[in-house]
Amino acid sequence: MANSANSANAVIQTIHARRSTRKYTAEQITEEQLDTLLDAAIWAPSGSDCQTWQFTAIQKEDVLLKINELVKEGLRVWTPNDDYASRAAAIRQNAQKAEYNFYYRAPTLILTSNRPNYENGLADNALALQNVFLTAESVGLGSCYINQLRWTSEYAPLRDYLAELGIPREHVLFGAAAVGHIDTATPTPERKPNTVKKII
Ligand SMILES: Cc1cc2nc3c(=O)[nH]c(=O)nc-3n(C[C@H](O)[C@H](O)[C@H](O)COP(=O)(O)O)c2cc1C
Repeated sequence: MANSANSANAVIQTIHARRSTRKYTAEQITEEQLDTLLDAAIWAPSGSDCQTWQFTAIQKEDVLLKINELVKEGLRVWTPNDDYASRAAAIRQNAQKAEYNFYYRAPTLILTSNRPNYENGLADNALALQNVFLTAESVGLGSCYINQLRWTSEYAPLRDYLAELGIPREHVLFGAAAVGHIDTATPTPERKPNTVKKII
């Protein structure tokens, strides 16, 4: 879909260049970069301009590793409530491996949550995440959408720990953003055909 006019546009170039990174170096991002990502998140659109989301950035390794252990436990008892069931068994099995790390050992993880009983929660938080991903790409960082906290959000020991970290217990957890320096680049997937219709 790119043409010569839009390929000169920095935003469109960033949209095309962004990939989901699943191998990061150990180098932490700077606090200035983190602030830039969080600023991009809070500038996303939200239904009726609610802005009821919360973005919780975690860089402390012991905290991230503790969350990883709780997610592993949570995935053991996770039952998907949609037609994802066919993949759930594989995900559960993979999560029991000793080396499993749901955020790919990225040095920074940004959790997103929103108030309960809010029908735009998933949309608002996903738009904020896309701002984070595109901003990460634009400053030379890798990122990835991480869904495991959404799947395990009802696991009580995990919620207890997240409450200790300041995520309200009643909040709904949505996707998270893993962010860091790219170790291994991700290949660009092909665009599937016939997903666009023009009535012009
Ligand atoms: C709603 C959603 C959930 C996702 N969850 C995960 C995830 O939990 N772990 C992961 O590695 N990638 C996850 N991804 C990333 C997709 O796998 C990725 O976007 C897709 O393979 C296309 O690759 P690209 O992002 O490099 O273009 C998710 C993406 C979306 C939009």
